[in-house]
Amino acid sequence: VFSFGVPPAGGDTRPYAIEPDATAASYFLSLPIAAPVCAGVGGICAAMLQGDIAYTGALRKAGVTVSFTEKGGLAARAAGEKLRGVEENFNAFSDTFLTLAALAPLLKDKTVLTGLAHTRHQETDRLNAMATELRKLGQKVEETDDTIVITPDRAALARLSKDAPVAIATYKDHRMAMSFGILGCHDLHGDGRAWIAIEDPACCAKTFPYFFDVLEHMRQQATFPVVAIDGGAASGKSSTARGLSERLNLMHVDTGSHYRALTYALLEAGVSPDDVRGIEAALGRLKVSSVVEGRSSRVALNGTVPEDACLRTESVNANVSKFAAVPQVRAFLKDYQRGQKDVACERGFAGLVMEGRDIGSVIFPDAPLRFFLEADQAVRAARRAAEGQTDAVADRDRMDATRKTAPLTCPEGAERIDNSRMTLEEVVAHLASRVKTWRDR
Ligand code: CDP
Ligand code: CDP
Repeated sequence: VFSFGVPPAGGDTRPYAIEPDATAASYFLSLPIAAPVCAGVGGICAAMLQGDIAYTGALRKAGVTVSFTEKGGLAARAAGEKLRGVEENFNAFSDTFLTLAALAPLLKDKTVLTGLAHTRHQETDRLNAMATELRKLGQKVEETDDTIVITPDRAALARLSKDAPVAIATYKDHRMAMSFGILGCHDLHGDGRAWIAIEDPACCAKTFPYFFDVLEHMRQQATFPVVAIDGGAASGKSSTARGLSERLNLMHVDTGSHYRALTYALLEAGVSPDDVRGIEAALGRLKVSSVVEGRSSRVALNGTVPEDACLRTESVNANVSKFAAVPQVRAFLKDYQRGQKDVACERGFAGLVMEGRDIGSVIFPDAPLRFFLEADQAVRAARRAAEGQTDAVADRDRMDATRKTAPLTCPEGAERIDNSRMTLEEVVAHLASRVKTWRDR
């Protein structure tokens, strides 16, 4: 919702809320026809003033479930649901007929869209433009004055685009470009390659200048693995995450080092873990940023990455879990940690692996790949001793697991891996195979 002020004659400014555009929403709500995704559009609701929200009724007829929450609309393909051809009179929401017509080749049987005579006099003769382009894709299309009937032929789609993408003309019509853009999201050949080429995509500038950038961003996000690794102290998180990042070129983020860096900075500032006011004041003076070294994204405080040696001192070991239990400290890091996904994307990594105590539960609860590492207490103590560290591993685990905010726990749906008797290579290989299966899904 966009709001702005109109200064009336009297000079006071009243805010007006403007509804999001229901027609633009139709493209994204239709994505589940083209790809196995759940698509969400913020700010829309069933009771919108714009008639084009009725398009959701046609989507439901096609086998897409559309639901509304207070945040917006969600569209998904119901499990096991076949996508059906649709018979619908689009007269009252005709701007959206192109969206469904362009996707008709992916539906099971005939699609019959009526009430469209007036669309022959819009940006172009839309009925004829749609029929012409669908025929280029080998679809059987019948057209009357106000109706288009599309009989899908998937084999023809595959045959015609086997060697090169089929060029789709857009007739200077933004809705032609956007509708076929959604069709192009379908992975027709099962290998991710483009199979249609949309001429003059810039014609969308009229209503949605960044439409294709948004689609590309969504595509990247959908194929960009976020691996969340949680577990107690010395359960093998850092070494496993590092190994996975090297093997798959993922950006590695050790969130324990974020809490350690803050602990170091707060102790340096003379603040104790029970002095909430002092913590707030000190956090207000700290600015976090990222420095990427190799495949590791390191946290910088006021522009400086703290030395490793400063992060593993006895006093940091003894205080880090106390500071990490303070909600203000966790809130301070939350958005920064979530933003690491964008950093990994921008830097060209193939994905992100983040480790800590609450990555799969709080930071990325929707991550498709979430793991919880475990190892026997004796094995973990021996691992730390072998590293020559004095660290009350059990005490930290107890504090981390019993705190109120974001306690250490195996998140629901995460895979538990007891690595007491596994080598590091075995654990890394197991996670890498899970990432591969997810990518190939
Ligand atoms: O390396 P080790 O497992 O011993 O600890 P770490 O990962 O460096 O984390 C140090 C401490 O930071 C943990 O004991 C937790 O108290 C805290 N932490 C947290 O609360 N949440 C995270 N996501 C990561 C670490
Ligand atoms: O990050 P976290 O504290 O969970 O553990 P880590 O620092 O990755 O691992 C602690 C020690 O256990 C390191 O010296 C690792 O090389 C070792 N380790 C192991 O021997 N076998 C594993 N499967 C995982 C870690």
